[in-house]
Formats: sequence, C-alpha cells, structure tokens
Amino acid sequence: MKGFIFTNFLDFVEKNNGLKMVDSMISDCDLSSDGIYSAFLSYEYKELVTLLTYVSKNTNIKQEVLLEEFGRFVLPYLIGKHSYIVKKYSNPIDLLAGIENHIHIEVKKLYEDAELPTFSVAEKTKTSLSLIYTSSRGLTYFAIGLMKETLDFFKVKGKIDIDHAYNNNGSVKFHVEILD
Ligand code: HEM
Repeated sequence: MKGFIFTNFLDFVEKNNGLKMVDSMISDCDLSSDGIYSAFLSYEYKELVTLLTYVSKNTNIKQEVLLEEFGRFVLPYLIGKHSYIVKKYSNPIDLLAGIENHIHIEVKKLYEDAELPTFSVAEKTKTSLSLIYTSSRGLTYFAIGLMKETLDFFKVKGKIDIDHAYNNNGSVKFHVEILD
C-alpha cells in the first residue's frame, strides 16, 4: 500500500485526536516501518489495519466509521495531487464510472507498484450508478468515504448504498444515486 495512505492516516489522526495520539500510536503499535513513511514508497497493508485498530480502540469509534471519515479525508489529497486526471470530469457519476478504466489506469502509470481494487460498472444512468468493488483489502467503508466526498467535490447531493442482497465472493455492490 502506498505511503501516502499512511502519511494521510497520521495527518487524519493528528487532526481528529491530536499529536499525542499519533505519538502513542506509533510507539505502542509494533510497526515494521517504525511509523516512518515516505509517500512514494509502499508498506504492508496490515500496518494500516494495526493503526486503524489502535485508533478505534482508543477512541471507541467503530473501524467502519473511521474508514469512511478517512476516505473523505484522503479524496481532496488525491484530487489535489492528480488534478489533471480529474479535470476531464464534470459530474460525479462519470468520475466514479471512470475509476477502473481511466483513473486507476493513470495511477498505475505513476506508481507501478500500486495495489488497486477493481470497480466494475454494473449499471449507469445520468443520475445513478451501480459499481462492484473487488479488493483483497476489503476497504468498503474507505470507498464509501471517497465516493461521498466525490459528490461533495461536485457540490451534488446524493446517496451511496450497499446492496446487501449482492453476494459474490466478497465483492461489494454499491448504488450511487444523485438526489438533486
Ligand atoms: C483522483 C482520483 C483518484 C486517484 C488519483 C486514486 C489513486 C489511488 C491510489 C494511488 C491508491 C493506492 C494504491 C496502493 O496503495 O497501492 C488508491 C487506492 C484506492 N482507491 Fe483510488 N484514486 C482516485 C479516486 C478514487 C475514487 C473516487 C474511489 C472511490 C471509490 C477510489 C477507490 C479506491 C480504493 C477503495 C482504494 C484502496 C485500495 C483497495 O481497496 O484495494 N479511488 N487510489
């Protein structure tokens, strides 16, 4: 997993819980990186799970809730760093439908070792989108945070639901609907 996710996670914890928690998290968690991350290098995904578990235990906030907030926190960073990729889109439905065949492909050119999920489009209209997310990392709520922030980025109201009836080897089906 790319280092920028970890550097963003430390910033996220600092903003919400203060530098003290960042310090105690790094000293209390047994991290092979020692908590020293460089945005462009990659680190083991399980370190993120360790950090997330620590914050969840110490704040009594569910991991799903933290991950969704973290997704919201990361999107402006991703957009800011890769604005040339995003400027092609004028609405959130097209952007979200473009993750698989455009956005993450551009990402792979930049970071050869990026471990990306797949987002296949099951259905698309002007105001709705069904997306199937598949990843060994299962960052469902991180994805929800990224998608909600994408709606906010375009100043559009909408909702994101998980299709609980969908069950296919751990893939998750999201339904995005624009409301205004
Ligand atoms: C400017 C737009 C975007 C850029 C540049 C971008 C780039 C990236 C990069 C570099 C990673 C890290 C891969 C790694 O750690 O090796 C990543 C992961 C991820 N991206 Fe994107 N992304 C963008 C938008 C989105 C959006 C809108 C979603 C919405 C669902 C999304 C979903 C994810 C998820 C869920 C992961 C975590 C990896 C996983 O689940 O396996 N991305 N993205």
